[in-house]
Amino acid sequence: MPGAVIVGTQWGDEGKGRFTDFVAKECSLVVRYQGGHNAGHTIVADGEVFKLQLVPSGVLYPWVVPVIGNGVVVDPAVLIAELDMLESMGVETGRLRLSGNAHLIMPYHQELDRVTERFLGKNKLGTTKRGIGPAYADKALRVGLRVQDLLDAKIFREKLDLVLREKNGVLAKVYNRLPMSADEIADQYLSMVPRLAPMIDDTVHLVHESLDAGQWVLFEGAQATYLDLDHGTYPFVTSSNPIAGGVCTGAGVGPRAIERIIGVVKAYTTRVGSGPFPTELFEGDVDGDRLVEIGKEYGTNTGRRRRPGWLDGVMVKHAVRLNTCTEIAIAKLDVLSTFDEIKVCVAYEDDSGTRYEHVPYHQSVLHKVRPVYETLPGWRCEIDGAARLEDLPAAARDYVSFVAELVGVPVSFVSVGPGREQTVVLPRAA
Ligand code: GDP
Ligand code: IMO
Ligand code: MG
Repeated sequence: MPGAVIVGTQWGDEGKGRFTDFVAKECSLVVRYQGGHNAGHTIVADGEVFKLQLVPSGVLYPWVVPVIGNGVVVDPAVLIAELDMLESMGVETGRLRLSGNAHLIMPYHQELDRVTERFLGKNKLGTTKRGIGPAYADKALRVGLRVQDLLDAKIFREKLDLVLREKNGVLAKVYNRLPMSADEIADQYLSMVPRLAPMIDDTVHLVHESLDAGQWVLFEGAQATYLDLDHGTYPFVTSSNPIAGGVCTGAGVGPRAIERIIGVVKAYTTRVGSGPFPTELFEGDVDGDRLVEIGKEYGTNTGRRRRPGWLDGVMVKHAVRLNTCTEIAIAKLDVLSTFDEIKVCVAYEDDSGTRYEHVPYHQSVLHKVRPVYETLPGWRCEIDGAARLEDLPAAARDYVSFVAELVGVPVSFVSVGPGREQTVVLPRAA
C-alpha cells in the first residue's frame, strides 16, 4: 500500500508544487488533503508556468487523477476558473475528482476573513483573505456547507438560511457591514452545479482502490509545518493541519498507508504574513534583499514580498520529526550560488546565554532567541544546469550533506532552477 507525502518543512512556498509534479509521474493519484486557495504552487514544465491554487500538482500528466480530498476547503468559483485556465493552456482536466465531504468557502467566509483582519489591526495575522479560517471554523462549529450539499438545492438553501442568519448578525452588529443575500448566494453557487456535479465523488474510496491495487498515491501538502494549526507558530498559522499526520484525516487513510514522507526544504527560509521568525533578515539587510531578489520571493498568490532569512536547521530538524520524514528535498539551491558565505542556523541562544538545540515550545522564548550560525563556504558559480549530483561543485555538495546530517535524514532531490528538468535526483532515490 504505497502512499507518499510531500510536506513543507518551513512556512510555505518551499517548492512543494514542483516536487509534487516531479514525483507525480510515477503515481496514479495526487491528492490534496488540506488547505484551500491560500496555496500557490508553481510548476514550470517545458518553459510553461502553471500556478495552481486548488488543483493538485499532478494534473499535468494525463495518466494521473488529481483528487481534492475531504480535508480541503473549496471555493467553487475559484476551482472552475482554475480548470478553465488549465484547459486554455491545453491541460485536460476532466479527470479531477472532488470530495463530496470537502467544505465550501462561502462569500461570508471571505468577508469575515477581511473584516476580522482589519479588526485585529496591528495584531493581524496577515492571512491571504481567502476565507480559509472562517470556513474551517464553521466546519468545527458544524455549520459548514459541504460540496455534497450542492447536489440537493433544498438542503443547500435550508443550511444556507440557517447559517446566514447568524453571519449577517455578526457582519451587521459587530463589523457594521451590509447583510448578505441568501438568494444571491444560492443562485451563484447552484448555477455552478452542472459544471461541478460530474467531478463530485467518494474520494476516500478512490484512494483506497488505488492503494489496494499497489499503485503509488501521492498526497500533496499545502502550506507547511510551521503554519500547522496545532504545531505551527500559533496564532500565526493557517487553520488546517498541513503536517503529514493531516493526510489521515484530510484524505481518509491510516498512518500505515504511508511509506514515504518527503519534507521539502527551501535552501534558505521565507515567510509571508506575521509571526516569529528567528533567522529573519529584515528589509534593508543586504543578504536578505539578495535572497528576495534572486529567489523572486514574492507570493504566487497575493504578490506580497516574502520575509527572507537563512536556513533554520533547528526548525527543519523538528519538522522532520513532526512529520516523520523519510527523506528531504532541497529546493532553490541555485539561489545561493552568488553568496561568498552561506549561514545555517544550528541552535538558538537567549539573552541569558541558554542554548536551545530544539524549537522552544513557549512562543515568548521563540520570539526572543537569537540564531547561532554555522558559516559554510559558497560555490560562486552557476549550478542551474546541473543534472546529477556530480555536476554540483564540491561546496554545493557539502552544503547538501551538511543539511542532511543536521536534520538526520537523507536528501532525495535537489532543485537548481524552477524547471521540471532542473531537478537533481540523488543516487539513493534513483
Ligand atoms: P510551493 O507553494 O511550496 O509550491 O512553492 P511556490 O510555487 O509558492 O514558490 C516557489 C517558487 O520558487 C516558485 O516561483 C517556483 O517556480 C520557484 N522555484 C521552485 N524551485 C526552484 C528552484 O530550484 N530554483 C529557483 N530559482 N526557483 C525555484
Ligand atoms: P503554499 O501552499 C505561504 C500564510 C498566510 C498567513 C497565514 C494564514 O503556497 O505554501 P490563511 O489565509 O491560510 O488563513 O493565512 O498562512 N499562508 C501561506 N504562506 N504559503 C502558503 O501556501 C500559505 N498559505 C497560507 O500568509 O500568514
Ligand atoms: Mg506557494
